[in-house]
Amino acid sequence: MATRIAVLDENVINRIAAGEVVERPVSVVKELVENSIDAEASSLELDIENGGKKLIRIRDNGTGMSHDDAFLALERHATSKLRSEKDLVGVPTLGFRGEALASIASVSKLRLMTYDGIEDSGAVIVVEGGVLRKSERTGMARGTVVEVANLFYNTPVRRKFLKGPSVEAGHIQEMITRFALAHPTVGIHYREDGRIKLDAPAVRSTLERVHTLYSRDVRENLMQVERSLDDIRVHGFVARPPYARSNMRSVLTFVNGRSVRDRLINSAVSKAFANLIERGRYPLATLFLELPPDQVDVNVHPQKAEVRFVNPQLVFSVIVDGVYEALTGAPFTPPPGPKEPILPKPPTTPVLQHVKDEREREQLAPIATAGGQISSPVPSLSLPALAPAPMQEPESRFSTLGVLGSLPGSFLILHSDDELIVMDHHAAHERVLFEELKAVDDSGVGFECQDLLIPRVLEYPPVEARALAQHLELLERVGFRIEEFGQNDFVVKGVPSWIGDTDLERFFGSLIDVMLDTGLRGDPRRFREELLKSMACHAAVKGSKTLQPEEVRALLRDLDRLGAMEVCPHGRPFLIKIPFAEISKKMGRR
Ligand SMILES: Nc1ncnc2c1ncn2[C@@H]1O[C@H](COP(=O)(O)OP(=O)(O)OP(=O)(O)O)[C@@H](O)[C@H]1O
Ligand SMILES: [Mg+2]
Repeated sequence: MATRIAVLDENVINRIAAGEVVERPVSVVKELVENSIDAEASSLELDIENGGKKLIRIRDNGTGMSHDDAFLALERHATSKLRSEKDLVGVPTLGFRGEALASIASVSKLRLMTYDGIEDSGAVIVVEGGVLRKSERTGMARGTVVEVANLFYNTPVRRKFLKGPSVEAGHIQEMITRFALAHPTVGIHYREDGRIKLDAPAVRSTLERVHTLYSRDVRENLMQVERSLDDIRVHGFVARPPYARSNMRSVLTFVNGRSVRDRLINSAVSKAFANLIERGRYPLATLFLELPPDQVDVNVHPQKAEVRFVNPQLVFSVIVDGVYEALTGAPFTPPPGPKEPILPKPPTTPVLQHVKDEREREQLAPIATAGGQISSPVPSLSLPALAPAPMQEPESRFSTLGVLGSLPGSFLILHSDDELIVMDHHAAHERVLFEELKAVDDSGVGFECQDLLIPRVLEYPPVEARALAQHLELLERVGFRIEEFGQNDFVVKGVPSWIGDTDLERFFGSLIDVMLDTGLRGDPRRFREELLKSMACHAAVKGSKTLQPEEVRALLRDLDRLGAMEVCPHGRPFLIKIPFAEISKKMGRR
């Protein structure tokens, strides 16, 4: 009787498993780089051709392998990194399955050259589609070279699913960037079709690496993240919101040194940025999470790209808090990298100096309102002690700007030494008010209330009235005196100065809309922030109002005092910077 069931040939099994380990060229690159790092290499040279589809070659100066080990390395489940199951907890190396090389060799033409610096000679082994073709001895420096040619040549369907070379190369470049950040002490030289794409010499820290990887503009807008809770620590950096990107790939995360793409981490980062960034934009962030090995399982994904946390809530909140704190604190400037010293600021030109002097002479005293009270013309709070305290002296990013004027009924025109700046003063003021209100709310210290000469009565339908009644505490905290009066009525007896001449009817109407938004239930912190955003939005000076020079000054000072982000609380940028150099270029000036 003929049997229909047969044990699969080892080679076939390998090909199936390879599908999990090797999905596309970038997976090969990842495995090979991890092997080199595990082999303690301090220098890596990587070449790819045609997006890695034609060739991937990596050369390292690590420990190398003996002849016997070189053959074993290409067997499945052969590893030097793990001996028994209990070693799986807290694996210190990036690899541990003993699967990568065998899988890659089964779907490509692979040449392994390696020398351990101990034996008489190095070994060369050529394997095609998992079949040994050639082995010989060679002379070479200590280290290992792996060449992977014609990936998926024997699995045409899989090859068909690959994208064009530039897409595949893009994935590889991103992966290399991740390694470069996580392993700053390893020099990395990466070429695509012979062109140098990354030349990152070995340095001591990730911060120094940042210099090779990011433009100066981005570097100067990075904020340091550092936060611990119990034995979980998150550190790294995030860029200020204007440097947001259009996809989540800009969030690079590492867990115990392992590059991972984790949904929990991503959503924590998004949450921290929630009111600072437009919907559909993503922060630029590099975050390292360190936690005890028994708190995380790395063995849950064929490409080791996902992890599982024992205590996901804790991890989530450390990240949200760490990133949020970084964004609302002072910026950090990485120490000068080895290649590009930060240039001293160009001297101020005489014309600009004149503008500055003028500015300093200007009296910035508050003006008296008709009612005899002293208040800033832009409804502005004076609560320096309550504002989120920046880690250093607040820098004068805004108040040193020159004010050229305002376009009637729309934007402010400002300038720095090297840029023309257009500012949406409504959105900027909205940011100021939001920061102040949040500080008041977080600190628990109420805001001063001014009695109305004639109390205002507000009437609402029952559902709305009930919503408002539930949040009188928050309203009191930010400076209102408001009492329930009969079934569905309220009487407003006092208001805070920041409310200015805002229409109270509309102000409370929008607040009630937010209160009734069921989508916000279940997240009390976000809910409260939405209420504060709505207040800030309604009380902020109108975009159509033309501001007086003193009002502009007060606004700029407030932005500095609060170390404000350059986006409104809903995430829209409130200023556009046009470098003079760009204008000159457009004008054809040299
Ligand atoms: N560049 C290298 N330098 C020195 N030894 C290497 C190198 N690459 C691989 N090896 C050796 O070959 C073995 C097999 O490598 P392979 O990548 O297949 O498995 P692994 O790294 O042990 O586990 P994983 O499948 O999780 O990557 C390694 O355990 C290591 O001993
Ligand atoms: Mg490996």
